[in-house]
Amino acid sequence: MRQQSGREGPWISNIKFQYNLGMGRHSMDIFVIGITGRIGRLLADHLKDRGDNVKGLTRSTRDEAEFAAVGVKTYVGDLGAMTPHDLAAVVTGTDVIVFTAGSNGGERGVTEAIDRDGVAKTVEAAHLAGVRRVALVSVFPEAWRERELPADEEYYFAAKKEAEVTLSHSGLDWFILRPSLLTDDASTGLIALGLAEVHGQISRGDVAATLAHLLHEPRISRQILELNEGDIRIEAAVSCAAAEAETETAAKCSPDRA
Ligand SMILES: NC(=O)c1ccc[n+]([C@@H]2O[C@H](COP(=O)([O-])OP(=O)(O)OC[C@H]3O[C@@H](n4cnc5c(N)ncnc54)[C@H](OP(=O)(O)O)[C@@H]3O)[C@@H](O)[C@H]2O)c1
Repeated sequence: MRQQSGREGPWISNIKFQYNLGMGRHSMDIFVIGITGRIGRLLADHLKDRGDNVKGLTRSTRDEAEFAAVGVKTYVGDLGAMTPHDLAAVVTGTDVIVFTAGSNGGERGVTEAIDRDGVAKTVEAAHLAGVRRVALVSVFPEAWRERELPADEEYYFAAKKEAEVTLSHSGLDWFILRPSLLTDDASTGLIALGLAEVHGQISRGDVAATLAHLLHEPRISRQILELNEGDIRIEAAVSCAAAEAETETAAKCSPDRA
C-alpha cells in the first residue's frame, strides 16, 4: 500500500434519486473485506485518493499501523470463524461493502469458507447492519472451458458461481465484477468492460481503479460486469456501462414492456 501522500419503475427512480443526490460524486464510507490483498490495497489507495472513508478487515494486527498511517481503520477477524453478527458489528455505518477476499483456489474447505460462505455471511451481515450496497470481485465462471483444469480449480470456480447466485438473490443493491486472469503488470488505464468479455488478462491496478469508479456509480446496480484489458479509458468505460444500465433498467421497468 502506498504511504501517505416519463415512465419508470421504483428501482430506476431510486437510482436516479441517489445519483441526483450526488452519490456518484461525494465521498463514501467503504468497507473492504480483503483489504490486505493485492487488489484490496490498491483499491484502498484509489478510494483514499478520492476522499472516501475506508475501513477493512484484516486477519492480524500486523498491518494495523501501516493502514492507520494512511487513515484506514482496520478490524481484526478471520472470515472463516466470524459469524454474520460479528461481521455486521464491524460494517455497521458504511455505505458499501466490497468483497475482494479469496482463497485463490487450493484446499476445498478454505474455498468453501471464504469464496462461498464468506460471501453468504457478508450478505447476511449487510442485511443485519442495514448496509444496502455490496460489491463482489469474482471470476469468469465459464473461463477456460477449452482447458483441462485441476478438480480443485473447477471447485473454486463453482464456489465463486454459488457466491454470485447468493449475492444476486440478496435483494441488496449489488454489483459483481469479474476480472480475467490477474497480473501484477503496470496499470494501463485501458480496459474492456461489459456484460460479456473475452477471458484474457488484466492488471490488478486496472481492476482496482475500475472498481473505485464503479463504486461511485449508482447506476451500476444489480449487474454483473466482466473486465479484461482493452482500449477504452476506465472512466469512459464505466460511464458507458452506467449509461447502458440506465437505459436497460428503464426499458425493463417500462409498463409498455409488461
Ligand atoms: N487470481 C486470479 O487470476 C483471479 C482472477 C479473477 C478474480 N480473482 C479474485 O480476485 C480477488 C482478489 O484477488 P487478489 O489477487 O487481490 O487476492 P490476494 O492478494 O490473494 O488477497 C486475498 C485477500 O483475501 C483475504 N483472506 C483470505 N482468507 C481470509 C480469511 N479467512 N479471512 C479474512 N480475509 C481472508 C486475504 O487476507 P490475508 O492478507 O490475511 O491473507 C487477502 O486480503 C479474489 O477474490 C480472487 O478470487 C482472482
